[in-house]
Amino acid sequence: MSKVMISKQNFIKFLHNFESQFHLFNDALTFLWLLTQITFQILVRVLMSVEPGEDMEFLKREFMEVIKGLICLPIKLPGFRMYKSLQAKERMLKMVRKIVYDRKMAMEKKETKDSGSPNDAIDVLLRDTGESDGTQQRLPLDFISGNIIEMMIPGEDSVPMIMTLAVKYLSDNPVALACLMEENDELKKRKDESGEGYAWTDYVSLPFTQGVISETLRMANIINAIWRKAVEDVEIKGYLIPKGWCVLASLTSVHMDEENYENPDEFDPWRWEKTGASVNSNKFTPFGGGQRLCPGLEFSRLEISIFLHHFVTSYTWVAEEDQIVYFPTVKTKRKLPIMVTPR
Ligand code: HEM
Repeated sequence: MSKVMISKQNFIKFLHNFESQFHLFNDALTFLWLLTQITFQILVRVLMSVEPGEDMEFLKREFMEVIKGLICLPIKLPGFRMYKSLQAKERMLKMVRKIVYDRKMAMEKKETKDSGSPNDAIDVLLRDTGESDGTQQRLPLDFISGNIIEMMIPGEDSVPMIMTLAVKYLSDNPVALACLMEENDELKKRKDESGEGYAWTDYVSLPFTQGVISETLRMANIINAIWRKAVEDVEIKGYLIPKGWCVLASLTSVHMDEENYENPDEFDPWRWEKTGASVNSNKFTPFGGGQRLCPGLEFSRLEISIFLHHFVTSYTWVAEEDQIVYFPTVKTKRKLPIMVTPR
């Protein structure tokens, strides 16, 4: 899969959508629901530049139908969940194919195929040749459309869940919340005084905020394990994994191991001060690693940084009692009901 490279300016513009969406806050709010609405729009904009409106609503509706069928009885007959899900995927594909086709036609018309920064993932994939000298065939349009939908599936749920959990962990840790506010208030003040806009580097340079994100990712274990199948006999540290066998690598075990993290059950963003927050090492693998490293890594971290910045500098909140369940996947039992007030 091609790594998504979008101009930093456009990226920041997309993500600042958060600010304009915060008016949605009202008294009876489940935070996870709200964040899922906001991040879905951002994801669709980053992938294919669809703006809020009829098309966005269509995509949201069909996508919800698609994901309901990800874990279900594998019966492809009318009336069954899997059938409905596949039908919805087909309708989505039809729309995405049209968007990709129209974009390709527009690119060819303007003859600016390789100039300027790409605006979204479709632009990146349309320009991709698989070879750095541009001599190879471009990717087929059907492949691009399929890829866009494949990226929506892992992208939709993970980011709002991490944001919700960060807010939950912070609600339970007033000292960490105070440090986060101080760091972000300071950046906001600097920006207000200088009149400068935010840049990519502003967010990633906030060390405590990055520590909060890494600590949330470490404890939440959104993807708690990954599967691999041995395509040939492999020997690792004296153990033989025979060809054809499957291995389940548990990311949770690494992140909650006392040998790697002191008091692993404690939310401690300060622990990252020593190691640097955003390193992906063999002790910190929330986004996997190697050839299948998550292509949404930078996007997710930046999106969460921007969310935390706007949220803590503009609002205070009181979260109701909720419980985090870690198995089979991480969830907040009540989707975190919350009362939000402008600061
Ligand atoms: C906090 C957010 C996220 C976490 C923790 C996360 C975690 C992961 C992990 C652990 C993998 C590796 C799976 C494996 O090795 O089998 C993965 C793969 C993947 N992720 Fe993410 N992800 C996140 C957000 C996103 C977003 C926002 C997108 C899309 C924009 C995305 C797209 C993908 C894709 C397409 C793959 C498959 C890559 C491949 O198989 O080569 N992820 N993710």
